[in-house]
Amino acid sequence: MNITLETRSPAQVETQALVGYVFDEDPVSGRVAELGPASDVLRRLAKNDELTGKSLEITYIHAPQGLAAERLLIIGAGKKGKFDNAQLRKLASVALRHLKARGVKRLVFLAREDGATADAAQAVTEGLVLGDFEGDKYKTGDKKNSGAFESAALAGWDAKSGADKAIEKGRIIAEAQNFARSLANEPANYLTPKVLADRAAEMARENGLGCDILDETRIAELKMGALLSVAQGGPEPPRMIVITYNPPNAAPGSPVLALVGKAVTFDTGGISIKPAADMDKMKFDMSGGAAMIATMKALSKLKPAIKVIAVVPSTENMPGGRAQKPGDVQVSMSGKTIEVLNTDAEGRLILADGVTYARKLGATHLVDAATLTGAIVVALGAVNAGVFGTNQAFTDRVLASAKAAGEKMWPMPMDDEYREMMKGTIADLQNISGGRYAGAITGAMFIREFAEDTPWVHLDIAGTAWLDDAKPWMAKGGTGTPVRTLVDLAMNFNSKK
Ligand code: BES
Ligand code: ZN
Ligand code: ZN
Repeated sequence: MNITLETRSPAQVETQALVGYVFDEDPVSGRVAELGPASDVLRRLAKNDELTGKSLEITYIHAPQGLAAERLLIIGAGKKGKFDNAQLRKLASVALRHLKARGVKRLVFLAREDGATADAAQAVTEGLVLGDFEGDKYKTGDKKNSGAFESAALAGWDAKSGADKAIEKGRIIAEAQNFARSLANEPANYLTPKVLADRAAEMARENGLGCDILDETRIAELKMGALLSVAQGGPEPPRMIVITYNPPNAAPGSPVLALVGKAVTFDTGGISIKPAADMDKMKFDMSGGAAMIATMKALSKLKPAIKVIAVVPSTENMPGGRAQKPGDVQVSMSGKTIEVLNTDAEGRLILADGVTYARKLGATHLVDAATLTGAIVVALGAVNAGVFGTNQAFTDRVLASAKAAGEKMWPMPMDDEYREMMKGTIADLQNISGGRYAGAITGAMFIREFAEDTPWVHLDIAGTAWLDDAKPWMAKGGTGTPVRTLVDLAMNFNSKK
């Protein structure tokens, strides 16, 4: 999709569809009220309560009188007091998907005069690019055509608002997020750890990033026993994917941000096998790793001032004849020993070695993202990701980035009492706690043992990485979270916010 700035007055813009948004308090106001006879029609609709401005309401008019546009689409923005860039992003997606479903391929998105900031232009752009993504790659007919929308223009932004740069930034970020979504959607017969590593290496090569793919031999040489223990259950060899972004003139001793992502390309549970219902969804268990790889793609273009490395352990979790058994003891790369009481708690095992390796590579700050626990879905549903951290200042920065990026995240407790629950009987640690409770927190506590004193934040995205049903603003499937948050974190790392 070609996205540009449009400086002509809205009534004169020739396009397939002019899109405006209106608030609940005053459904025909601002620029939407200045469209001549077309605004009169909107006022009539509003008077009749057929246009109310309530969130995501769509009013769709063909051949609007007095406009050069072929169609006018007015979308409800809801209450003014609740409006933010996250809502604006959503409105842009909904408008595009409404039009695309009707064969329209070109639109102009009109800002309100009080809302034409650079950040708003970025949000609209992201919404458009995210809305144009479809998850039907393997259909042979009747496809929705991902990325097929031809062009969009943003109108109402001043040429001096910085909107042109913001459009570029929004496009880079949303395209990276779509890359993560496309990886998450891949079935596990196509996307094995080897294939994921190939895709990561290809992305790194195309974007001038450093890349080191550790194969099973090097993984064994480095004694990554926790990762190997998960991989031994199936025939596909594991990979440790490392992607490096080095800023042009980083001072020696400056911070190194490591992004560690869980990439289990399929999680059967292993010998502690999962029930059959919905097991197909477990192809998404590499979503954390996909987000880290995709974030690096965006950073290669946005060029933050900080060094960033992605470390992505990838394996299948299979119950083959050589699979690890409940009760087995494994030696992690760190040297810490682990009693594997449940082979389905495999994410924390591979992250243990991922975190240890990231620290060995010089990480000063760690963020991991993982579809780690069903328990976080019980706690927070599909709305918020769980945020766990031991360094309050760093945790607050991640939360601030999430807020700025419009990805919902909620802080979870990390009291020492939970730590006790992960101490092993015959080894240093056990990979599950004895009881049924606090499953998301104890999972985080396990990873924490490997982060040691390095500032570390764990994002449990098990509830937010996947959309079970299509929404008006987004196709069903992988969501590509937390790419936007991590891009914001890297871009603003040196600024105190
Ligand atoms: N990949 C799953 C987490 C998961 C479960 C994500 C359900 C989405 C929906 C993870 O590897 C897992 O199986 N975790 C176990 C941990 C338990 C054995 C302590 C879980 O949550 O049941
Ligand atoms: Zn599992
Ligand atoms: Zn898993």
